[in-house]
Amino acid sequence: MDRLSSSARVMIVSDLDHTMVDHHDSENLSLLRFNALWEAYYRHDSLLVFSTGRSPTLYKELRKEKPMLTPDITIMSVGTEITYDTSMVPDEGWVEVLNQKWDRNIVMEETSKFSELKLQAETEQRPHKVSFYVQKDKAQEVMKTLSDKLVKRGLDVKIIYSGGMDLDILPQGAGKGQALAYLHKKFKTEGKLPQNTLVCGDSGNDAELFTIPEVHGVMVSNAQEELLHWHAENAKNNPKVIHATERCASGIIQAIGHFNLGPSISPRDVMDSSDSVPENFEPGHDIVRFFLFLERWRRAEMEYSELYLAGLKALSFPSSAFVHPSGIEQSILDCTNALRSSYGDEQGKQYRVWVDQVTTTEIGSNIWLLKFNKWEISGDERRGCIATVLLSSKDLSPSEGFTWVHMHQTWVDGAGAKDHTDWVC
Ligand code: GLC
Ligand code: MG
Repeated sequence: MDRLSSSARVMIVSDLDHTMVDHHDSENLSLLRFNALWEAYYRHDSLLVFSTGRSPTLYKELRKEKPMLTPDITIMSVGTEITYDTSMVPDEGWVEVLNQKWDRNIVMEETSKFSELKLQAETEQRPHKVSFYVQKDKAQEVMKTLSDKLVKRGLDVKIIYSGGMDLDILPQGAGKGQALAYLHKKFKTEGKLPQNTLVCGDSGNDAELFTIPEVHGVMVSNAQEELLHWHAENAKNNPKVIHATERCASGIIQAIGHFNLGPSISPRDVMDSSDSVPENFEPGHDIVRFFLFLERWRRAEMEYSELYLAGLKALSFPSSAFVHPSGIEQSILDCTNALRSSYGDEQGKQYRVWVDQVTTTEIGSNIWLLKFNKWEISGDERRGCIATVLLSSKDLSPSEGFTWVHMHQTWVDGAGAKDHTDWVC
């Protein structure tokens, strides 16, 4: 994890199901609000960590279903698998820690004696995690008896109940909290302990995240009874943990504001883009703002006005070129024309645009090179491209934003891309 050369300004460690991802929000609006906030103001100097109970298989499925960002670190299978970067390189050191006092076969043997335990899908059985379903009213008793039996067999395990149905058995040293403590220790050794850490969760397996020293925590408004109960018993007087009044990702944004961790107004909450210029102007914000404009324009959520197009033209170099993902080079005039005719063409469809992994490098004085992935969904269709943009801030005050010098986009997957003739910019 070498993306940042110094301490992260903020590290967000968030659970996915019912925390970052709201399964009751079919338009994914709170997730998209978070995405825009993160890419505009945090991606360049902060760390995003997803910590989920899901195995790699189910995690990848969720990524296909929902407009999720790419995290810097992914912790899966309830803190038993830590991986880094997009290529998801596993942390071998963590595997060694988990091998202590762990014997999967003994766990299988003892659990098979409980008729109340129903084994979960094969994908969810992992080297350091054995998972079952158990009814709510049976859970406490089963956990107690099973725990005694496993101790007698010489194992030191952790049994966690989540979501009022899932029972996970892990090595004692595993779990979401222990995995975070391990990361903190690792960052500290490298002299890169994040300045602030915010942990976010909704269910039983998230409880231990809130026990890590120094972290801020948010239980989203829709948190499960078992987490609220744990909090009431163990962390009630800790001012660093709040129970948000908002659901899922909106609750995370609320906590960012509550703990003053940085900007907490998502560009998606700002209708007039000129109001949204923060004090520390970030090039990433320009990218987010531009594609949000494109979304609102095509959804006809803003009024048609030639002034917007003139404004865009004014913010581009006269000789700017935009290479469309199909390989066609467009002048700023071609782009403006394409925009003009695309006004409202996605009206009434579930059309959304978001950017992911915006990286910014100041490659010369007042010249910025940005790279990111841009995604669009329209109804059930989803497509993406890798984009490179050159921005210049020469002769401009920060409030005027940046001048767009060049943009080049390439389809993420070549397949079928030729058919996307309705791609505007
Ligand atoms: C996820 C996993 C499941 C686990 C649950 C609670 O749903 O897929 O195996 O039991 O999280 O940790
Ligand atoms: Mg959850």
